[in-house]
Order: sequence, then C-alpha cells, then structure tokens
Amino acid sequence: MIYPITVYGDPVLRKLAADVKHDFAGLDKLIGDMFDTMHNADGIGIAAPQIGLDIRIFVIDLTPLGDEDPSLKDFRKVFINPRIVLKEGEQVLMEEGCLSIPGLREDVLRYDTIQIKYLDSDWQEYDEIFTGFSARVIQHEYDHLQGVMFVDYCSPLKKRLLKGRLSDITRGKVTTTYRTKTPKV
Ligand code: NI
Repeated sequence: MIYPITVYGDPVLRKLAADVKHDFAGLDKLIGDMFDTMHNADGIGIAAPQIGLDIRIFVIDLTPLGDEDPSLKDFRKVFINPRIVLKEGEQVLMEEGCLSIPGLREDVLRYDTIQIKYLDSDWQEYDEIFTGFSARVIQHEYDHLQGVMFVDYCSPLKKRLLKGRLSDITRGKVTTTYRTKTPKV
C-alpha cells in the first residue's frame, strides 16, 4: 500500500515519535508499505511520521546510488527505536531535500560520523557507526522522529525567505509526482 505523504505544517511532523512496542501488529506489512511509499516518490529515506504515524521507525534505501558509490550498493535498512548516541568528526555542508517539503532544497550542516543503536524488523539489536552520505541520510530521517525538519537548520534570514513557499506547501499549493496529505489548517 502506498500512503499519502504528510507535508510541512502537519502536526505529526513536529511530534516526538514514540517507541514501537514489541507486540506491534502488522510491523512487516508497515515496513513494506514504507519502502513502497518511498520508492513511489523516488525517495531514499522515509520516516513513519511522513506517513502519519508518530512511531520510531524509518527506512533507507541507498542501493540506487551504488553505481556512484559502491559502498552504498547493499544499503537497504530498517531502523526501529533508534537512538543516536554519538555524533563526531567534521561537520559537512550538503544540500538536502525532503519528501515532506516538496521542491525545496537547502544546504544543511551535519556531522560526518554517527553512532546509532537500533533494532531491525526481527528485533535484533545493532550498535553501529556510519560515516559520510549514509550518516547524513540517517541523521535526516532520525530528525523526523524528533519532530525536526531540515529547514529548521536554516538561518533566520533564510527562514524568512522560505516562509511563503513553506506556507504554500502547508496550504496544498504544491505539485508532486506522489500523493500528499494536506494539513488541516
Ligand atoms: Ni525528510
């Protein structure tokens, strides 16, 4: 099932998402649906709040980038109840976009290396270090579980300049190749 994607202005994107309980029903189906929804929108990552659920799951698929960067060719992962426990290394500026903020891309400064603890869909525990592009995408998706969006990192001046476009998105004045859910405002 392909979900409509929530967009800027939807309160679910501003909530601190709750841990997924062990007895959560339909977890495998939900994860499959998240991958389908993300692929349908040509995304490389999606977090549960982007399909309207305030729970701590995100999925990432960087395998389409494997031609450019062979280290990403098998990078298809589910992160359940993740906790970033360390960010380190240099901070790198790189342009980002987001399926919930269609048509807008801005530079975001992020740490190059992170350590994250998480569970996979079999509830197996991991404690891993990621670096470079995968660390960036993980930090972006993780932010969605914290109620943070990439435009929050923009300077006050930049935020003023983006205000009109963001309010257009919130009011449904946006064109996408995928279905979105316009916030009730
Ligand atoms: Ni995003």
